[in-house]
Amino acid sequence: MITIIASVGRNLELGYKNDLIWRVKGDLPHFRRTTSGHTVVMGQNTFESLPAALPDRRNIVVTLDPGYVADGAEVVHSIEEALSRLDHNEESFIIGGGSIYRAFLPFADRLCLTEVDDSFPDADTYFPSFDKEKYTRTVLFPLEGAEPAATVVQYDRRRDADPLTLGVLGGLGPAASAYFLEMITEHTAATCDQDHIDVLLSSRASTPDRTAFITGKSDKNPLPVMIRDARYLESCNVSAIVIPCNTAHYFIDEIRHAVSVPVPSIITETVAHIKRAGYKKAGILATDGTLRARSYQIECERKGLGWEVPSAEDQAALMELIYGDVKQGGAIDTDKFKRICRALFDRGCDTLILGCTELSLIKRILDDDSGLTDSLEVLAYTAIKLCGKTPCGFGKDFTA
Ligand SMILES: NC(=O)c1ccc[n+]([C@@H]2O[C@H](COP(=O)([O-])OP(=O)(O)OC[C@H]3O[C@@H](n4cnc5c(N)ncnc54)[C@H](OP(=O)(O)O)[C@@H]3O)[C@@H](O)[C@H]2O)c1
Repeated sequence: MITIIASVGRNLELGYKNDLIWRVKGDLPHFRRTTSGHTVVMGQNTFESLPAALPDRRNIVVTLDPGYVADGAEVVHSIEEALSRLDHNEESFIIGGGSIYRAFLPFADRLCLTEVDDSFPDADTYFPSFDKEKYTRTVLFPLEGAEPAATVVQYDRRRDADPLTLGVLGGLGPAASAYFLEMITEHTAATCDQDHIDVLLSSRASTPDRTAFITGKSDKNPLPVMIRDARYLESCNVSAIVIPCNTAHYFIDEIRHAVSVPVPSIITETVAHIKRAGYKKAGILATDGTLRARSYQIECERKGLGWEVPSAEDQAALMELIYGDVKQGGAIDTDKFKRICRALFDRGCDTLILGCTELSLIKRILDDDSGLTDSLEVLAYTAIKLCGKTPCGFGKDFTA
């Protein structure tokens, strides 16, 4: 369970010049009592505003800075990484500041707000506005002797009134996006339409080719189009954005900077998945662009996994399968695909990552897909969990 805890003014004022505005009597003891023994998650600015990590609590600090070190705290680099570190059977607290409250609001089950009966026009940080209709409001207690007056109020989210919406930055390519939607629909435990995930798909097929840009064969940069679409999805109130395209991972840092909702990485999630499943050495089947960017190689090394890539000849054949067969909607030469796979298994790989969403489309027509780890399936699993639903029918590795 995720609880946001904050002290807000009449206009949701939170802070000024990286400091608290509200220091009303009784509020700090209430904060300490409520959060002690639990995990607290905060943004880098809030951590820096504290004298030290909060005692008697597991501190998690969110920052985009890869070199950031926080004494007494775990450091994570994205909202989804923070979410994945939380034990959802226990209560965890999001303790600020403004940008972190905004990013976690869709995932919070409860808001515990100290509502201060005052305003502060100079505030530079605000709590995100939220629709009170979507919560059940309970007044817990007034803070005795607080000046100005302050009351602790609890808002419990009515999930029936406010389901999470998944944004899909798609069209990269279009067939893989359509298959991704099919996959999350098939693999969400549901007994009626309303049990499924609300999804907004932006299938921007005209996005310039990612591989051509990364390998220098084209100067048409797909990033501005992807950023525009990510911002559009965010403006439609999606809770998270997934990108069913491995090659697009190359641009993920810029996309994450451009929006405040979580953008899980298909590559980080896939490598974490194979590590959890106990594999030791992964063969990487991906586009030239993904291999050139070394996205999977770097992530495997980070997780202590071995890796192999196809020989130059097999890589050329794989690109023919992706661009010639799948993207052009022609007949797929599955024998060619199996030969490429065999060569990697012969070199000691115990799993092969389908690190291009077009290859997922090949997997579904194979008679035997054992040993293949489909990055699109891993992303679908991640998306279903992120939206608070129960995944079902994924392969044995997903229960590992
Ligand atoms: N009233 C209250 O209850 C309360 C509680 C807490 C804080 N506050 C106040 O709020 C203010 C601070 O809020 P703030 O919004 O300026 O800062 P913040 O939310 O504490 O921290 C912002 C930083 O968090 C990191 N971050 C945010 N979103 C991220 C994401 N999606 N992925 C990775 N990193 C991310 C970034 O760190 P990098 O720049 O390092 O990448 C960003 O600069 C202060 O005035 C503080 O006193 C008030």
